[in-house]
Amino acid sequence: MLRTHTCGQLREKDAASEVTLCGWVHRRRDHGGLIFVDLRDRYGFTQIVFAPENKDLFSQAEHIRPEWVIQITGAVTKRLQGAAREDNPTGAIEVRVRKIVILNEAKTPPFEIDQDKEVSEELRLEYRYLDLRRERMRRNIVTRHKIVQSIRKFFYDRDFIEVETPILIKGTPEGSREYLVPSRLYHGQFYVLPQSPQQLKQLTMVAGLDRYMQIARCFRDEDQRGDRQPEFTQVDVEMSFVEPEDVMSLTEQSLVALTREIRPDVKILKTPFPRLTYSDAMNRYGSDKPDLRFDLKFTDVSELCKGAGFSIFAKAVESGGVVKCLRVPDGAASSRKEIDELTEIAKIYGAKGLAWIKIGNDGYEGVPVDKLGKDLTKKIVDAANAKLGDILFFTADSFETACSSLGAVRTELGKRLKLIDPKVFAYCWVTDFPMFEKDKDTGAVAAVHHPFTRPKDEDRDLLDTDPIQCRAAAYDIVLNGSEIGGGSIRIHEAVLQSKIFEILKIAPADAERRFGHLLRAFQYGAPPHGGIAWGVDRIVMLFCDEPNIREVIAYPKDQKAKDLMLGSPSVMSEEQIVELGIKILEEDKA
Ligand code: AMO
Repeated sequence: MLRTHTCGQLREKDAASEVTLCGWVHRRRDHGGLIFVDLRDRYGFTQIVFAPENKDLFSQAEHIRPEWVIQITGAVTKRLQGAAREDNPTGAIEVRVRKIVILNEAKTPPFEIDQDKEVSEELRLEYRYLDLRRERMRRNIVTRHKIVQSIRKFFYDRDFIEVETPILIKGTPEGSREYLVPSRLYHGQFYVLPQSPQQLKQLTMVAGLDRYMQIARCFRDEDQRGDRQPEFTQVDVEMSFVEPEDVMSLTEQSLVALTREIRPDVKILKTPFPRLTYSDAMNRYGSDKPDLRFDLKFTDVSELCKGAGFSIFAKAVESGGVVKCLRVPDGAASSRKEIDELTEIAKIYGAKGLAWIKIGNDGYEGVPVDKLGKDLTKKIVDAANAKLGDILFFTADSFETACSSLGAVRTELGKRLKLIDPKVFAYCWVTDFPMFEKDKDTGAVAAVHHPFTRPKDEDRDLLDTDPIQCRAAAYDIVLNGSEIGGGSIRIHEAVLQSKIFEILKIAPADAERRFGHLLRAFQYGAPPHGGIAWGVDRIVMLFCDEPNIREVIAYPKDQKAKDLMLGSPSVMSEEQIVELGIKILEEDKA
């Protein structure tokens, strides 16, 4: 070893011992004839001191610059009274340097490592290895490791075995666009990178392995957002002979244990975690991943608005939609500017506008008031439990649009009105999702979760009569308004699976071509099974109080799916492309 200790290790009890440390020059200060250097490594900082008596040594110290890598040998000395630093675990000592070896010099970094200054994300990602030297990133990566390790242990202790599933697989469409990998040996044929190991973990249950888990890398070629990456990590779990309750309670136990271990400073809002059906979550909070850290709730005023004089409300109800109302208490969010800003947010989610009624000293105020009339307005105000000084916001539209646009307003208000206690973790389950959804434009039916999800037993008959009304035995786990995981009980019978493909308009020949392996496996004694997958990146992001998952991934892609450090995707040599039997269009070559 080139060192006897790390930079985070030495304490007062080590005083007088001779040590050798290696690390990076974090900061250098010249003070009263002495040179002080904070030497840094992953474990911490140690102050090292150069005295002028040894001229050679001192002149070397004068030359060292930030981020140079050095090795020093010297005596551990207790710091003088008043000079000790309580904020640093090594702050009681310093090392008086006797010998220095410059292990490597460094160019001036493109941004300062020793300061928590705002640096453009582009630059941070291009020089990620330098960005990772910074305290915030080091902390996040270490926390990520601890989280993954703790999750693994939890599952290993309960008889789960980790099975590695392949990365080069056959297309397993689950809803997102897939990444394709051309085959060199079979021109015109492709492997696909897994969106998740969904079908493989189900096959692992058919194989009788009973309890599977994997920290699995998944790939989805979809639009980037703060909580999405083209490649991300799941805790992937599958269990045989289980009901939803089994998967949910195991998940809950594990998340409670994880929270207590990693974030002992936060309070879990409620255990057992509250459970909401999809329809309750949408109805009350306008989201299938409601943030329960604050209590703003919707009131449905559709019944009251039936045939009302305010045609926007009346028409929405007439055409099968709803009118949703959100009460904001005590004069908050009621300036013209705030209302305009909230309206813009509602519009992003498809609302045509955001109606409002204020309850002021001089009565009711707002565009709908005159048209609704005083009596009806009062009924609506009472239904929403509104008081003097409150403002009510309304969306009137199809159920989905009215709920989700007002839900976005709710989320924004939670932040703006500082209703969120950062020391609270609010977990909840959302259950009873619909099995299918219809595309607004094409009318095509798609699986809400994935096509292997089991319908709820009590809704089985609806598959023949009204599949859109059929609910799934599926569950999502939500933390602070983020979907951190989702799962379901699966179909394990070939006949039922074929029926679902039929509803999804996948022709039998097509089903055989795409999913033949699964349909065949189900004919060889497939056990009833179910599972869940958690988004590791999102969990780490929330545990680290970070605003997006790029902050907790060592080497993420940017928002345009590029790796700015490696420079990928990149052009490949003509030779390699030809070998794959692929031709690049002339216009794309430029
Ligand atoms: P699902 O698609 O819901 O389910 O994914 C599970 C969880 O993975 C996380 N997640 C993502 N995280 C970062 N970037 C992305 N692009 C991304 N997409 C999803 C979310 C999500 O809740 N096979 C099923 C699971 C199952 O049924 O067992 C699946 O993958 O936190």
